[in-house]
Amino acid sequence: MSSKLPPKPMRASRISIAQLMQPGQANNLGNVHGGWIMKLVDEAGALACMRHAQRRVVTVAIDQMVFRQPIRIGDLIILTAEVTYAGHTSMEVEVQVVAENPITGERTHTNTAYLVYVALDDDGKPVHVPPLLAENPAEKRRVEQAKERQERRLAQK
Ligand SMILES: CC(C)(COP(=O)(O)OP(=O)(O)OC[C@H]1O[C@@H](n2cnc3c(N)ncnc32)[C@H](O)[C@@H]1OP(=O)(O)O)[C@@H](O)C(=O)NCCC(=O)NCCS
Repeated sequence: MSSKLPPKPMRASRISIAQLMQPGQANNLGNVHGGWIMKLVDEAGALACMRHAQRRVVTVAIDQMVFRQPIRIGDLIILTAEVTYAGHTSMEVEVQVVAENPITGERTHTNTAYLVYVALDDDGKPVHVPPLLAENPAEKRRVEQAKERQERRLAQK
C-alpha cells in the first residue's frame, strides 16, 4: 500500500445532492421516513469520500443521528457532504441536511451527521487515501475536531 499520495483540499470532496420528497418516502405521520434520510446521508457521504479517494468505499461507522425537525413530503432535501478527516485508509465525512420548501423558499437545517468510510482496492482490501489539506484556520479546526471524534470512535471499539 503506497502512502505517498499527494494531499487533496477539503473543498475538492464537497458534494451536494438534492431530491424531491415523494409520498412513497412517507412515514405513518406523513413526514419523510427517518430511514430514507439516513440512506441519502450515507449516499452523500460515500460520494464525497469517493471523490477524495478516487476509490470505491464502504461505510464503517455512523455516529448518532438526531433529527431536529421533520421533513415534509413535497420538500426538497439538500444534502451537502465534505471529507473532514483522512487517516490511512479511512475518512470521516460531515453531511449537512437541509429541507427546502420549494414554494416559499424557506430552508430548515434538520441535521448534521458524521460517518466514516474505508477506501477499498480492486481486491476489496483497505487502501491508502490521499492526506486531507486544510486550507484555512476554519478548516484546520474542523480537521482537529474530526480527529478527536475518530479517536473517540476507536476508543469505543
Ligand atoms: C471496513 C472494513 C473493510 C475494514 O476492514 P478491517 O480489516 O477492519 O480494516 P482495519 O482494521 O485496518 O480498519 C480500516 C480503517 O477503518 C478504521 N475503522 C475501523 N473500525 C472503525 C470504527 N468503528 N470507527 C471508525 N473507524 C474505524 C480503522 O481505524 C482504519 O483506519 P485507518 O486505516 O485510517 O487507520 C471491514 O470492516 C468491512 O468490510 N466492513 C463492512 C463494511 C460494510 O459492509 N458496510 C456497509 C455497506 S457499505
